[in-house]
Amino acid sequence: QVTAHHWPYPRWIAHRGAGKLAPENTLAAFRLGAQHGYRMYECDVKLSADGVPFLLHDDTLERTSTGTGLGGDHAWGALAQLDAGSWHSRSYAGETLPTLDNIAAFCLRNGHFLNIEIKPTTGLERLTGEAVAHHASRLWRGQAVPPLLSSFSTDALHGALAAQPALPRGLLLDELWDGWLDAAQQLGCVAIICNYRLWNADTVGQAKAAGMRTLSYTVNDAESVQRLIDLETDGLITDRVDLFSPVA
Ligand code: G3P
Ligand code: MG
Repeated sequence: QVTAHHWPYPRWIAHRGAGKLAPENTLAAFRLGAQHGYRMYECDVKLSADGVPFLLHDDTLERTSTGTGLGGDHAWGALAQLDAGSWHSRSYAGETLPTLDNIAAFCLRNGHFLNIEIKPTTGLERLTGEAVAHHASRLWRGQAVPPLLSSFSTDALHGALAAQPALPRGLLLDELWDGWLDAAQQLGCVAIICNYRLWNADTVGQAKAAGMRTLSYTVNDAESVQRLIDLETDGLITDRVDLFSPVA
């Protein structure tokens, strides 16, 4: 069981696989992150219309694939046909949208760790949290280190908690809204994952006193990295897998 006390994850986490160096949230990105020495990745997961958890950041398909409309409106069979690489560069043409199963297989094969950001289609927050937690629990069954589930959506995290309470959860925060720490505690979170600008001695102290690990996104410059290390925070999600070498 992962707790703030028993924290098995590395400090460095590759955002969406390999940041912007490869098409985000594709297997090619994960492979590139691994080539740069990364052992943990963040990815964004939502449900297809027929309930398959797959990787996509935006609500809609246009920016990062050849599809159109809401990702969650299409059945997996149709999503699987899309090109999710050529928008990035010609060398990634033919790259497909991965399922969570595909990414789990990659991580488990390599002994790497995963942070699954639950990114639900609007209106399906709780259902997505439940489904992703059930899938993750099945995929990582018997493994020593489960994936870290996270979300900006407290409804999604409530769903994950109800479905698979043993899977570790982190509350994502882009601002410190009223009651953020109480909410994280009620959700049984082991971590707060903040916009890195929100961490200072006061907020880090509050989170740690509440028994939470302190992680940041998306940290892409050396000065901010140093500040977050000086604050003794626990994890850095970065796009710059080419710039930061994930040693201890
Ligand atoms: O999970 C951390 C970070 O990915 C949250 O923001 O928009 O990049 O998914 P976003
Ligand atoms: Mg994300």
